[in-house]
Amino acid sequence: MTKNILITGGAGFIGSHVVRRFLTQYPQYNIINLDALTYAGNLENLKDVDHLPNYTFVKGDICDRELVEKIMNKHDINTIIHLAAESHVDRSITDPLAFVNTNVMGTANLLIGAKKYWQNDYSNKLFYHVSTDEVYGSLGETGFFYEDTAYDPRSPYSASKAASDHLVMAFYHTYHMPVMISNCSNNYGPNHFPEKLIPLSIHNILQKKALPIYGKGENVRDWLYVIDHALAIDTIIHNGKLGETYNIGGHNEWTNIDLIRLLCTLMDQKLGNEPGTSEQLITYVKDRAGHDLRYAIDASKLKNELDWMPSVTFEEGLSKTIDWYLENQDWLEQVTSGDYANYYKKQYGS
Ligand code: NAD
Ligand code: DAU
Repeated sequence: MTKNILITGGAGFIGSHVVRRFLTQYPQYNIINLDALTYAGNLENLKDVDHLPNYTFVKGDICDRELVEKIMNKHDINTIIHLAAESHVDRSITDPLAFVNTNVMGTANLLIGAKKYWQNDYSNKLFYHVSTDEVYGSLGETGFFYEDTAYDPRSPYSASKAASDHLVMAFYHTYHMPVMISNCSNNYGPNHFPEKLIPLSIHNILQKKALPIYGKGENVRDWLYVIDHALAIDTIIHNGKLGETYNIGGHNEWTNIDLIRLLCTLMDQKLGNEPGTSEQLITYVKDRAGHDLRYAIDASKLKNELDWMPSVTFEEGLSKTIDWYLENQDWLEQVTSGDYANYYKKQYGS
């Protein structure tokens, strides 16, 4: 059956890889990308696929009920892949309400729009919600997040994502809306906005600027190549069970300081620098408020039930990522012009 898929946030980092995956893998599906083009959204991310006949872009806000209803009707939407969100933890600390508006109200608005259009006829329908491992809180030195780990969000960002997850499950239980949720660990790869640790550090090395490490650099994240996340979403949408949550992660834990040291080594090799050049830029700065110590996903449900595995090692993925940034320095320049300098100054002081 033809899928008419509304992808929200498709001009962002992960969204653009999901849009590309579905457009190219399933030419028989119609893909409608609804994105407000906030500072994080960029149509350049899709310039290699935006000419495809099965693609439509709509600029707009997921909080706009009328617009959501119009899109559902006009394109006879039967599947929603919901990625649109405010996604940066540091920004949520300075402006929590923006996160409540988009992540909570926006998700509620989409659920209500879908319910209204589908009118309780849920055959061949799906509301797929893309969420984060941060809803589970912070781990100590051992242990993993499982699908049944209790929610314990600790930043305004993760609290807003947790609220959106709860709303999605509430629509499943209350109205029997067919839903699925995936909670993924930290992504990295091409098109990652340079407010996040890896692309910010690549950009700063190119600019010979300080590499800001929060606290002692001992916090641990579990990194996954973004294209593997898109593949996991595709796998779950086609083979997952309704009403279920799937954890997605790379089994790939790094302390921030070790990760930045590896990045510095690879950057020095690729730029032809003396070994150790980029490491000299590492600068320890004030810690993030409420900084979660460690995230680590147990993705064995996805592996055992749906046969998904990451396709690249971290070293391969990081190397490909650096190559992409080196080959796309005009993209970096474009996204760091305008408001970026103001954000940077406010966040890092210079
Ligand atoms: P991003 O910030 O790069 O992109 C977000 C996109 O949403 C942008 O294109 C933006 O323009 C759009 N958007 C924001 N507010 C909107 C609104 N009100 N209406 C319509 N569009 C709007 O985010 P990302 O890193 O690609 O994350 C995508 C999703 O994946 C988010 O839901 C995030 O919580 C989740 N996630 C991210 C990661 C990660 O490591 N980046 C990991 C797990 C889950
Ligand atoms: O775990 C999934 C989450 O990963 C997603 O839900 C979020 O949308 C995504 O932004 C990401 O959140 P993090 O806060 O983990 O990512 P970030 O790149 O901002 O930070 C990674 C780690 O690096 C974290 O421990 C904070 C630290 N850090 C970050 C920045 C920006 C620094 O030390 N210095 C920095 O300048």
